[in-house]
Amino acid sequence: MQKQPLALVPPAQAATEKVVSGATSPIYVTQPALPPLEEFMPYLEAIWANKILTNGGPFHQQLEKALCEYLGVQHLALFSNGTLGLVTALQALRITGEVITTPYSFVATAHSLLWNGIKPVFADVHPDTLNLDPARIEAAITPHTTAIMPVHCYGHPCDVQAIQKIADNYNLKVIYDAAHAFGVQDAGGSVLRHGDLSVLSFHATKVFNTFEGGAIICPDAKTKQRIDHLKNFGFVDETTVVAPGINGKMSEINAAFGMLQLQYVGDALAKRQAIDTAYRAALHNVPGIRCVQDAGQQVSNYSYFPIMVEPDYPLSRDALYQKLKDNHIFARRYFYPLITDFPMYRGMPSASRENLPEATAAAQKVLCLPIYPALTLEQQDQIVAVIREAAV
Ligand SMILES: Cc1ncc(COP(=O)(O)O)c(C=O)c1O
Repeated sequence: MQKQPLALVPPAQAATEKVVSGATSPIYVTQPALPPLEEFMPYLEAIWANKILTNGGPFHQQLEKALCEYLGVQHLALFSNGTLGLVTALQALRITGEVITTPYSFVATAHSLLWNGIKPVFADVHPDTLNLDPARIEAAITPHTTAIMPVHCYGHPCDVQAIQKIADNYNLKVIYDAAHAFGVQDAGGSVLRHGDLSVLSFHATKVFNTFEGGAIICPDAKTKQRIDHLKNFGFVDETTVVAPGINGKMSEINAAFGMLQLQYVGDALAKRQAIDTAYRAALHNVPGIRCVQDAGQQVSNYSYFPIMVEPDYPLSRDALYQKLKDNHIFARRYFYPLITDFPMYRGMPSASRENLPEATAAAQKVLCLPIYPALTLEQQDQIVAVIREAAV
């Protein structure tokens, strides 16, 4: 059969063509870090040669091992994305009833509960870290509570000690949505070691991406085995199915890409750190702009650069967001709207604004500025100039 030439316009190019009106090219909140294409070819050739495309093939096994070493964790199960990781983590620990979680996150956090028939109970965040406030967790516990699902928002670690203490007192499980926390360390090592399970995302927008992907970090081999069964339809062997599992497996292409990405992630993190430092230096004396501080972690991943647009800044957050947009700079209001503003959650008693004053205030003030390894100093200057312009 005659091979048809590829006629598709790549989506990114199509989007760019629509957005660019003048000479300035758009600056998005993030841009995926990609290794040189030619370096990926040998990986593809290996896959074409062995014809193993999925089902825990050699690259899948290599990447699990390499990530355990890189992250400093004991056991890790790869997934096709972080959301299926969250859904499966809840299944693995047989979580039911109610789970206490944060409204200040990407919607997948709470959606993973609904997909398991679990009722999310929202508790407020701490105004400094924007992470679930341990002081608000206890009041949300009922006889139906079985677990807590906090998020290390922006890669800033939660108050893990306080959360664990509550979990121990009430015999609750803790599953961390660690989608933002790749490579983050506290004084004792990886933040991913905390709780019963932690779930990473390797989505295109994340610090370490495999196009799509994710992983569950677990403390012991037995739990990993259960998770591995669950992500493969519940199969234990050719003829035995032990649970109503799902297809959450990462393909060999994604895993091979992850192996290559790992070689570049150190460089990507160093570039992110330099951008973070430059933003802080340039914005520290702009009245009404507050850079969100980290949570005292030992090693950061600089995955986001959130600022708070306070009342003494001449523009509202949304006006600044629009002004940046007018200058082809696409900052994002992560996290606005709150999860609790979406129709499937807003009727829940714990979703009321009175229950969530800090999260509600943060959602009105926060703006995440562009940060990614390829962001140039000139582009950063452009972004800072737009923010400064309104303040003079
Ligand atoms: C906090 C949080 N949780 C979960 C997810 C879902 O991960 P994925 O896109 O890999 O399914 C994301 C991001 O995409 C996220 O930011």
